[in-house]
Amino acid sequence: MLSWQKVMKVGICKENEKVEARVAATPDSVSRLLKQGLEVVVEQGAGFHAGFPDADFAAAGASIGTSEDICAADFIFSINLPSAAVLKSIKSGSMLVTLPGLCEDDGTLKSLAENKVDVLALERIPRISRAQSMDVLSSQANIGGYRAALEATVQYKRFFPLMMTSAGSAKPARILILGVGVAGLQAIATARRLGAQVWAYDVRPETREQVESVGAKFIELDLDEEGSGEGGYAKELSDEAKQKQQQMLSEELQKADILISTAAIPCRPAPRLILEETVKGMREGSVIIDMAAATGGNCELTEAGSVVVKHGVTIVGYTNYPAMVAADASSFFARNLVNLMQLLVTKEGDKLVRPDYMADEVTEAALVVYNGEVRF
Ligand code: NAI
Repeated sequence: MLSWQKVMKVGICKENEKVEARVAATPDSVSRLLKQGLEVVVEQGAGFHAGFPDADFAAAGASIGTSEDICAADFIFSINLPSAAVLKSIKSGSMLVTLPGLCEDDGTLKSLAENKVDVLALERIPRISRAQSMDVLSSQANIGGYRAALEATVQYKRFFPLMMTSAGSAKPARILILGVGVAGLQAIATARRLGAQVWAYDVRPETREQVESVGAKFIELDLDEEGSGEGGYAKELSDEAKQKQQQMLSEELQKADILISTAAIPCRPAPRLILEETVKGMREGSVIIDMAAATGGNCELTEAGSVVVKHGVTIVGYTNYPAMVAADASSFFARNLVNLMQLLVTKEGDKLVRPDYMADEVTEAALVVYNGEVRF
């Protein structure tokens, strides 16, 4: 079913500044949305922490408004789920485009469905070639992997590259990356650029080629079980295989100066790959960057949001690395949304048309609330 409106407005939410420095639009993305025939209203101060002042948004053609103005827009862009107060005020018939954290949904989607607010969950955009330019999980995990590798350089009290100086030489750092999805691959590439020696392990054997193509060595474990799941993700291993994996990995982990772990399975707790016994056997001064901290951690000693030192090993549990590169992370996120917007609104003459969302595999998969129905 097609529906049309002469004017359609996109509202850009200000995020909760205690947890988020990014913003879902930039002055550049505003100009692109205007070119599509849309109007844009940006909540006052929304870009402040990412380095995009209101004046730059206004110069790009957006109006600056209050949270009530955002709630009255036709499409509302937000990186994280807005506050309960904002959610309640969104007008019926609007579409919220966000990362709602589907696996932790506590009934929010049902309330939005009752208020006739549609929700497009960005984490549900399928990982297919056509949708690559809209995939915020990939763009943000890429930045996360880069920033995590930089965090390791700060926490590790030694050099990454081989250093030869008049005072003698220092060995290159030995780094092991666990989980070679988007974040892991970028962590490998960044650590390699910084001169470290890098090894990597993933339960999906097809990642070997990618690991080798960015200059790292692949560690293979014979688990007698296939780790590849659907859509390029891993599947959960049996208890027996998990135990075998922990034992076989332990020796490799203890040889490393730095572990960067990114192992994840969608909507499941992070696989436990690093046990306390393994940490005890690591060298004093080693570092673990546990990117899976928010979903329970790949290391059993990780504390989400904190840096702790256990058995002489520094364990970093930061949960939002992309926000530490807020300007570029916002730019990538915003560009992904501009590309997505081409599926949400099309132009027919001077009319802006909402196409049939259920006829397109990308919007069909990502609209988790549509026409008053929760579809997740
Ligand atoms: P992804 O799904 O692309 O990659 C995860 C990888 O882990 C896959 O290659 C999978 O095969 C592998 N894996 C799953 N189980 C495993 C096991 N038992 N042993 C070894 N490998 C296993 O995910 P992506 O986008 O790379 O993100 C990785 C993790 O990092 C996620 O938990 C994500 O939420 C988190 N992340 C954290 C950030 C932060 O600021 N802390 C920023 C960005 C991502």
